[in-house]
Amino acid sequence: MAEFEPKIIAFCCYYCAYSAADLAGSMRLQYPANVRLVELPCTGKVDVRVLLGAFEEGADGVYVAGCLEGDCHFLKGNIRARKRVEYTKKLLDEIGVGGERLEMYNLSSSMGPRFAEIAREFTERIKGLGPSPLNRGYSPTKEEKAGEQR
Ligand code: FES
Repeated sequence: MAEFEPKIIAFCCYYCAYSAADLAGSMRLQYPANVRLVELPCTGKVDVRVLLGAFEEGADGVYVAGCLEGDCHFLKGNIRARKRVEYTKKLLDEIGVGGERLEMYNLSSSMGPRFAEIAREFTERIKGLGPSPLNRGYSPTKEEKAGEQR
């Protein structure tokens, strides 16, 4: 049987994590292809709806990577993001998806090796958890899909 390959979405701040990912690439550091990056102007842009939406759309794991605390270019965007991530983790626990499928990290643009390390660690964590309960054989009926479009 083929090994489970999770789909992981990483919401990355342009000023830090996204640049760190670029640096990791320049340094030819390997990190799993499971991680798909979404560039944001600041992690303050993520909210509960966006995080839950990623899981609804098929992610097995999601993480948010923002600037180091005190270094956010929009002052408190990363602090707000952390609060939203913590709140969403509780919601994921309550609905049975599991809060451990969501995480918040802080790093600077010079931390390319740390970026690659986070991507590897988080991918291993999600592999250990297996597919998201939302991805285990459920497919919406035509009626449910039609209801979503109303
Ligand atoms: Fe990077 Fe706000 S500008 S987290």
